[in-house]
Order: sequence, then C-alpha cells, then structure tokens
Amino acid sequence: MRTWSVVSQKGGSGKTTLVLHLAIAAASEGAAVSVVDLDPQRSAERWSELREERVKNDDLVVVHGTATGLAGMLKAARDNGTTLALIDTPPAVDKSMIYAAAAADVVIVPTRSSVMDQFSLRETLDYLKQIRALTKTVVVLNAASTDKAARADTEHLAGDEFGVGVLSVALADHVDLAASLRTGRGVTEAAPKRKAAKAVQDIYAELCAFERKLARARRLSA
Ligand SMILES: Nc1ncnc2c1ncn2[C@@H]1O[C@H](COP(=O)(O)OP(=O)(O)OP(=O)(O)O)[C@@H](O)[C@H]1O
Ligand SMILES: [Mg+2]
Repeated sequence: MRTWSVVSQKGGSGKTTLVLHLAIAAASEGAAVSVVDLDPQRSAERWSELREERVKNDDLVVVHGTATGLAGMLKAARDNGTTLALIDTPPAVDKSMIYAAAAADVVIVPTRSSVMDQFSLRETLDYLKQIRALTKTVVVLNAASTDKAARADTEHLAGDEFGVGVLSVALADHVDLAASLRTGRGVTEAAPKRKAAKAVQDIYAELCAFERKLARARRLSA
C-alpha cells in the first residue's frame, strides 16, 4: 500500500480539494483508494456522505480518525486491500501533521503563491525538516496565478532553502473543482474534458513519478 499525506499549516491552501480530486483520479486509474481524514472539521468525511447519496456502487472509502489512531487505520486499510491511502490533515503544525508525515511515502504540501502563503510555507517546511520528512516532500502550487514571479518565489523558497521541489504542474484557479465536488464527484468524473481535470491527472502522474523515484533511490542506497 502506498501512503500519501497532504499537509500545510495554512488554512484554505487546498488540502482537502487536492485529496478528494486525487483520490478519484487515482481510483479511475485502478487504485483501491482509502482517504483518512484527520481534520476535526471533517470536511472530507462529510463530503463522502454527499458522494454516497449521489454516486452508487462506489469503491471510494473515506474515514475520519485521530493522529494516535492513524497507524491502526492504515493497517486496517492495507488488510482490506487498499493500494493508495490519502491522508488529509488540519491546517496546523501539530500531532496530526507529525503522524501523517511519518506514515507517508510522499508528503504533499499544497500552497497558494501570495507572500502570506510563502510565510506559511516556510513554517510548514521548517517543521517537516525538524521531523526529517523533507526528502519525501513535494510542493504543489494551488490556485496558481499566471504570475511567473510568484512561482519563482515559491520555487526559490522550497528549493534553495529546503531542497524541496515544486511540481511542474500547478492547479490553477478552477471553478470546476468546487462545482464537481458539489455534485459528489471529482472533476475527472464530472468534467473530464475541462482543464482542471487534465491538471488533476497530470498532478497525479507527477506524484506517482516522484514516488517511484524515491523508491528507486531507497533501493539503491539499501
Ligand atoms: N485550485 C482551486 N481553484 C478554485 N478554488 C479552489 C482551489 N483550491 C481550493 N479552492 C477552494 O478554496 C477553498 C479552500 O479549499 P480546501 O478546503 O481544499 O482547503 P484546505 O487546505 O483543505 O482548508 P482547511 O485548512 O480549512 O482544511 C474551498 O472553497 C475550495 O473550493
Ligand atoms: Mg481541509
């Protein structure tokens, strides 16, 4: 089972949006996906009730849990055939983030690109550095502006200060992301021909490639 955790100290950076759309994109490519929602806001878990009403015969599992229960939940997910566990976390540098990052093969940090977001990104990456999770961490620009300088600033902060890469594919500001979730669907299901769907698929592919590269490096150094 692969485990990906989506973390960021900043509220509204796009953690839950990314988790849900990635979960559905991954499922459509054959993964058996379980989402673990560690956020007391329970956004992902509540959304799954909407999905249950709207989408019949669906395999996607979304469960709420706590940091201390995470290891047990992941074991249960593995035992039940999950091949990709996606962990959504609260907007904080806290126990949930530590446990989620420790359990993950890949840590994904979504960030918007304003200067305030960059302050927060620095805090998040600094925290991940303290818990030695930076080598498996990658940043995803979300609701990205077309301002090239904003991407360059984020790349400079993540890369030069922390040695962390920024995915080449960014998620732009897409109304289709929220609109599809309102119908209980991911954008790749509800609007597969739209730009947002392509972006989600490309981000999923880039994350898979990052994960494979990490696994290769681990094998070589073993
Ligand atoms: N790329 C995007 N384009 C348009 N709207 C977006 C995008 N990403 C997120 N949003 C919107 O921004 C808001 C916050 O997103 P989301 O809930 O995913 O953030 P979050 O990091 O999970 O927040 P929290 O930290 O409170 O859990 C939501 O209304 C969501 O629809
Ligand atoms: Mg959230």
